[in-house]
Amino acid sequence: MKGKPVITPVHLTATYDFDSSDDLIDVVQNHSGYIYSRWDNPSVVAVEAALAKLEGYEHALGFSSGMAAITTAVLANIATGSRIVATRQIYGGTFEFFNDVLPKLHVEAVFVNCWDTDKLRQEISQGCDIFYLESPTNPMLRVVDIAPLVQAGHAQGAVVMLDSTFASPVNQHPANWDVDVVIHSGTKYIGGHHDITAGFVCCNQAQYERIWDYRKILGGVMDPMTAFLAQRGLQTLDLRLGRQNENAQKVAEFLAVHPKVKSVNYPGLTDHPDYAIARRQMAGFGGMLSFEVDADFEQTKLFMDSLKKIKLATSLGGVTSLANQPITNTHVGLSPENRAKAGVSESLVRLSVGIEDVRLLIEDLEQALTAVA
Ligand SMILES: Cc1ncc(COP(=O)(O)O)c(C=O)c1O
Repeated sequence: MKGKPVITPVHLTATYDFDSSDDLIDVVQNHSGYIYSRWDNPSVVAVEAALAKLEGYEHALGFSSGMAAITTAVLANIATGSRIVATRQIYGGTFEFFNDVLPKLHVEAVFVNCWDTDKLRQEISQGCDIFYLESPTNPMLRVVDIAPLVQAGHAQGAVVMLDSTFASPVNQHPANWDVDVVIHSGTKYIGGHHDITAGFVCCNQAQYERIWDYRKILGGVMDPMTAFLAQRGLQTLDLRLGRQNENAQKVAEFLAVHPKVKSVNYPGLTDHPDYAIARRQMAGFGGMLSFEVDADFEQTKLFMDSLKKIKLATSLGGVTSLANQPITNTHVGLSPENRAKAGVSESLVRLSVGIEDVRLLIEDLEQALTAVA
């Protein structure tokens, strides 16, 4: 039959049939084809290749969630007694993994504020197997000065990992700074429609072999249907992010002068503490922002409940705008002390700005703020 599919189909198969034992042995020994879908699947390989190209890395690996990507990549790079230096302002689940799980494996994680570059360098110099960064940060939108920190990590022989989820592959290009392992929760901008949970890492050949092995063992591989949807998401990523960057800037500017808003965290505002870094480092300021309502917990809840168009939901990065109160969900697992250190107050609202008509979003925020006493 002539002609081939324009889009890689969903290869719903768990296993693969061989004409001979020699063929099977060749695939197992030389990684030259498919044998079992926990190892590799054509739909997953297709989206991995597309993302690797976009991020400028030799390889990408698909996972069942962002957390599967993070835990697998980290576990593939530690041994008993390893030391991790991480920025304190990281996703709540990542913090819990480092703080609650890794000590059981006798792995120490040290957390340092992401803006305190002197302290970060000092901690790295005391021994560092993995240097773990996230930028922009969740939920306070701090922007880390990545390039010099990557150099500091490499000088100490650390594997440098960066969670680039909030930036997406459109707004930030970690390959430019030689980051070893780039992480994305594919659930967010790459999927883009709030319909998949997915994760990715992008890396070079040596890391690929290491992380691929651990993915095979731990089993958190991406499924073929998710891979298909992630690939569809990649096709509109640039368009969506362009609109989300624009919308978020307008929403941030509206909130910044609203009398019932105490503060706004958006790197595209000139008074943001990391505005200069963001301008230099990012191709766009992104679709994420957070802000503090000038009210207590109950009144902030009332604001949330008064939103009509913007959905009250966790997660981020899709075409539909979502609002959440980090203290009630994404950061609920943190102790009050760690929550305070992360900047998560009772009146903090995180907003993931979608691609809707921005006038309708601002109208919705305006009417919900009216409800606040
Ligand atoms: C920055 C960041 N990294 C990682 C994750 C985890 O991704 P997933 O929910 O796909 O496991 C999230 C989830 O919100 C996130 O915001």
